[in-house]
Amino acid sequence: MAPSLSSPSLTFLPLLFASAVSLAAAGNLFQDMEITWGDGRGKILNNGQLLTLSLDKALGSGFQSRNEYIFSKIDMQIKLVPGNSAGTVTAYYLSSQGAFHDEIDFEFLGNLSGDPYIVHTNVYTQGKGNREMQFYLWFDPTKDFHTYSILWNPKQIVFYVDGTPIREFKNLEATKGVPYPTKQAMRVYSSLWDAEDWATRGGLIKTDWTQAPFTASFRNFNADGCVQRGVASSCGSKGWMTQGMDADSLKKMQWVQNNYMIYNYCTDSKRFPQGFPPECSVI
Ligand SMILES: *[C@@H]1O[C@H](CO)[C@@H](O)[C@H](O)[C@H]1NC(C)=O
Repeated sequence: MAPSLSSPSLTFLPLLFASAVSLAAAGNLFQDMEITWGDGRGKILNNGQLLTLSLDKALGSGFQSRNEYIFSKIDMQIKLVPGNSAGTVTAYYLSSQGAFHDEIDFEFLGNLSGDPYIVHTNVYTQGKGNREMQFYLWFDPTKDFHTYSILWNPKQIVFYVDGTPIREFKNLEATKGVPYPTKQAMRVYSSLWDAEDWATRGGLIKTDWTQAPFTASFRNFNADGCVQRGVASSCGSKGWMTQGMDADSLKKMQWVQNNYMIYNYCTDSKRFPQGFPPECSVI
């Protein structure tokens, strides 16, 4: 139930003000992120309000979060490489470390001017991925910033675009024995790199280096995560920790999957002649 806006009680005003201040503080990219590679091609600008990654023929660039999370809800606004971005990949993901790592991936595969980006998603658990689903977007992701979010709680992982769920990966560990990430802390990573061998129409379209440098922009990072410090991590009673998909969310996700999904490993029978992975039989 949304609070009524018609007659705001005066006692609410200091509260509203206080929450606005803490939101602004949470959005400082200097505090949240460190540029990890790229030899100066990654930059934090505007007092920590904007981060840009760039790619030229010599090198791309990347950053990672200072914190590690055990469960989280992360949001980032991203404006993808405009114009002819064929061959470029902008990755934005959560990952733990090591051979049996867990990973939750968004990858944005560039294209020729005017042709659609592909949003490539994957989920790795205990080092095993092969769970790709790909989508087109219902807007041009290079014109403006849009919000890309990952919800990771003990029940499920949900990928969102501008608040609309596009994909869900349920915790089926107890019922189907599908490993689910619950123990390894993950960091946020992002990078801009060249993958002209496969990114655009399967590698047919190469990167046009006369357009370099290519630049993607990031802002308003927000992690409502359970920050891991040492071994202990505590989430308290954060609402998203128990958040599931209600009927409305499921309807929205159906709409995206019916209209914008271009690949789903769970329907690729050529790839799984022995039968689909167990999570595929759960609607
Ligand atoms: C690029 O555009 C072509 C033509 O519309 C499309 O087939 C392809 O899926 C698009 N995206 C990528 C990343 O290749």
